[in-house]
Amino acid sequence: MEERKRPQWSSSIAFIIASIGSAVGLGNIWRFPYIMGEYGGAVFLFIYLLLIFTICILPLISELFLGKFFQKNIVSVYEAIDKKCSIFGWLCIVTAILIPCFYFVVGGWILNYIYISLTDLQVADYTVYFADFVKSPLLQPFYTILFLILTVGITYRGVNKGIEKANNIMMPAFAVILLILAIYTLNLPNASRGLEFMFNPDFSKVNMKMILIALGQALFTLSIGMGALTTYGSYLKKDAKIVRLSYVLAFFDTLLAVLAGIMIFPAVFSFGLEPGAGPNLVFITMPHIFNQLPFGNLISLMFFVLIFFAAITSGISLLETSVLTFIEKFNMSRGKAVLVLTGIISLITIPTSLSYGILNGTALCGFNLFEFLDFATSNILLPFNTLIICLVVGWVIKPSNMLITKRRWCFKIFNFALKYIIPIVLITLMYFGLEG
Ligand code: PHE
Repeated sequence: MEERKRPQWSSSIAFIIASIGSAVGLGNIWRFPYIMGEYGGAVFLFIYLLLIFTICILPLISELFLGKFFQKNIVSVYEAIDKKCSIFGWLCIVTAILIPCFYFVVGGWILNYIYISLTDLQVADYTVYFADFVKSPLLQPFYTILFLILTVGITYRGVNKGIEKANNIMMPAFAVILLILAIYTLNLPNASRGLEFMFNPDFSKVNMKMILIALGQALFTLSIGMGALTTYGSYLKKDAKIVRLSYVLAFFDTLLAVLAGIMIFPAVFSFGLEPGAGPNLVFITMPHIFNQLPFGNLISLMFFVLIFFAAITSGISLLETSVLTFIEKFNMSRGKAVLVLTGIISLITIPTSLSYGILNGTALCGFNLFEFLDFATSNILLPFNTLIICLVVGWVIKPSNMLITKRRWCFKIFNFALKYIIPIVLITLMYFGLEG
């Protein structure tokens, strides 16, 4: 049943671009700057970088390794390891279905802001505008579904004609726009205060909760912990060099997140605004700044198109993870798998899009549905799935025994870290971080 011909990336570069497309998303442009703003700027950046290059790089390599080695979807990978483990694969799929349910809502906000910039709609007060927009029972779900349809449209066209092509166009455009905007904001008056906020750490602000949030953000931004990388890795050729590819991926993801900060904070400080504005930073603070800049409309359009490219290329990888699983596990055609998943995601994402409107409330552990999905996926499901991936690769697969390599000692350390160090760190952070 699983013998159907699997698609493959046309080159390693295509894989790298698509994986950067998956990694660089709302996590970098929307979430990273506002969380960094809330948790003290430079010190958060420092902890985040430390976590990425010590802790997160190993599960990143492990996930790609699983994909490349087994050439299967995440559920079948776990099944191939041990039938009893398939539950962990399905937990990844649950995560891959739940993340889009709030991610696509933000995608809808972006589409709405692209529309405002295109039509030159004059908004006097973005605080009022944004609050009214997210409350709207029609407009808000409309834009969310529109974003879902665009994502589905690309995924439906398959790995080479859809995913690869979209990434090849959008990611270079993304990098160019980001550079132009960062140079522009760096030239605003008092821009250096923004840089100081980003690069001058105050270590007295470190605490467990902050480290958990930084870890959740690091996993989220690298797309670790739900099988997206296993999925993309499964389209790699057997001789691909995954360790090198993982470093390239982590490097670019971090670089682009830092650049996004460099694009945002100098502007925020230049106008004397609050860096800790939370999720509103991009949707209230930034448009307010654009309003006062020369060619503000054009800048605003570039800014939201930039975020749109980032969001949709990640959205595609989120969807592809469950699409591939449905194709291979239930022997469905791509079209049918896409259709069924669109139905399931719509059922949850429409109520989620009403979280600040008619379904507003704090019924879910003090959160509304949107906040609950964001918190539960980034801070519970992703770390938990990552823990399982590390344990399975470290204890069961043992790459050091499998890979014939000149640098065996490297893989011995790698194994040791996967078996003991990373699980202990993950469990400790989850325990203390969730306690508050
Ligand atoms: N990495 C993406 C971002 O930063 C989100 C994502 C998470 C995508 C998990 C795929 C899997 O926005």
